[in-house]
This record gives sequence, C-alpha cells and structure tokens, in this order.
Amino acid sequence: MTDRYAVVGNPIAHSKSPLIHAEFARQTGQDMAYTAVLAPLDGFSTVAKQFQKEGGKGLNVTVPFKQDAWKLATKLTDRAQLAEAVNTLKFEADGTILGDNTDGAGLTRDIGDNQGISFEGKRVLLMGAGGAARGVLLPLLLKKPAQLVIANRSPEKAVELTQHFAPYGSIEGGDYARLAGRQFDIVINATSASLSDQLPPLPAGVFATGALAYDMMYGKGLTPFLQFAKNNGAAFLADGLGMLVEQAAESFLLWRGIRPQTQPVIAQLKSC
Ligand code: ATR
Repeated sequence: MTDRYAVVGNPIAHSKSPLIHAEFARQTGQDMAYTAVLAPLDGFSTVAKQFQKEGGKGLNVTVPFKQDAWKLATKLTDRAQLAEAVNTLKFEADGTILGDNTDGAGLTRDIGDNQGISFEGKRVLLMGAGGAARGVLLPLLLKKPAQLVIANRSPEKAVELTQHFAPYGSIEGGDYARLAGRQFDIVINATSASLSDQLPPLPAGVFATGALAYDMMYGKGLTPFLQFAKNNGAAFLADGLGMLVEQAAESFLLWRGIRPQTQPVIAQLKSC
C-alpha cells in the first residue's frame, strides 16, 4: 500500500515540499504519496492526529505549527528537544509520535556540502533569535566553529538563547552594537526581516575576506541582506533554497531510511 505523508502549515498553498518529496520518491523508487494540508490556526494537533489515525506515516510541519508539533511528539530527538520546535513527525507502528527537527542539518549540509564551506575554526554570526535561529543552533555548534555570535534586535532573546545552548559550544549573544569592529567568515540571516524587505542593522565591515553570506529566506533575486552583503565585500552569497531541499532530504531519510540526491532537485527548483 502507498505510504502517506504531508506537510501541514497555514498558509500552505505555495509550499514546495510536495514537489521535492515527489522527486525524492521517484528517484529512490519509494511507494509514497505526499500532499499539502492546511490546518486551522488552532487546529494543528487535531489535523495531525487524524492523519495518524487514517494510517499516515509522517508529517512535515511548517509555520506556525513547529512548537505545536514539539508538544504533540511523544518522543524527541536531542536536536528537536533543544530547538523546542519540530518540523518532522514520524508515526511509528507502536503509536509513538517521534519528533525531529531537520532544519539545522539542512542548513549545515547546504553550507558544508553544496557551498563547500567548512565551519570548523570559523567565526560565525547568526542574526535573529526567533524560532528559525533556535532550530539551527545545535547542529551549528556541533560543527565546531571557533566562535558563534547571535545578534538580535531584542538583545535579551539572544542572551537567553546563549544560555540555553552554552553547554554545546562556544557561543555569545546580544545586540547588533556588539558587532562593531568585528569580522565573521560565515554570516547567516535567520531573521524574518527579508519578508518585509528589511535589513537587520549590520555594520558594513562585518564580512571577513572570503566570507559567506547566507539568507535562510529565499525568493526571486537577492534578498535585502544578500544585496547588502554583495555591496560590502562578501565573497559568496546563498539563499535558503538549498536548505529547504536538504532539510526535506533529512526528513525523507528519517522516514524511509534512504538519503535521496539533493543536487538535481535544487537545480530543478532554481530553474522554476
Ligand atoms: P521565525 O520563526 O521566522 O524565526 P520569529 O520567531 O517571529 O520568526 O522571529 C523573527 C526574528 O527576526 C526575531 O529574531 C526578530 O527580532 P526580534 O526578536 O527583535 O523581534 C527578527 N527580525 C524581524 N524583523 C527584523 C528586522 N527588521 N530587523 C532585525 N531583526 C528582525
């Protein structure tokens, strides 16, 4: 019987996940169907439990339900536990609801494998201290950067994240003013500023020679952050399309035990 999966969000109509997973299934010969499901804002757990009851095998979870999914899971991976957010649920045969968060692995794979840039010994700046930042911090720290600095408009949120993740590596956080006179090899935008066509208040000299500027958002053309990075000496620019495909591949691996090839799917999405 065909195994059923879906992505749940609100809104969900423009999700690329059904296309990505259909490609992965075709490529690996897996008998599965993957659809997009719109849940009411107060109805995530009802929708997810119904999907499980009907024999569904797993869900991807997107905005604004990642914390609801974290609460629904009966078992969590370490990275999901620390993120306090879940983007992948696996419904196991014994009724266990396993919650994972594959966002950070998606980010580190895209930067490490697709951009060919290692984190080890690098100075890394992560902008933002909301759900997107929290979701990627453990995998980032496990890559052993020399420094990981979190900058946020509301500095107390960056400080709180710093305390939460301090046991896992060298991390500091606060406001953007602390970045004055400092340079970073990898600068990641995990704020939602690009959505409203805005730019976090970054000092111009923040990009070290050979730096990568990475925006977790994606869209047509350069985001305001990537345009700023281009104008201020960043050597490499990347948006979050690769991360989207890589986090999907990581979910697919959890569900099906097989890692699909991501490069052809990234290329296909870029050409859309
Ligand atoms: P997400 O789930 O996308 O992370 P979120 O939890 O609402 O969404 O967090 C949004 C993040 O983007 C926050 O870190 C927010 O900063 P504040 O904590 O100070 O609100 C950041 N952000 C949004 N717009 C921004 C802007 N124009 N400049 C700088 N940071 C911005």
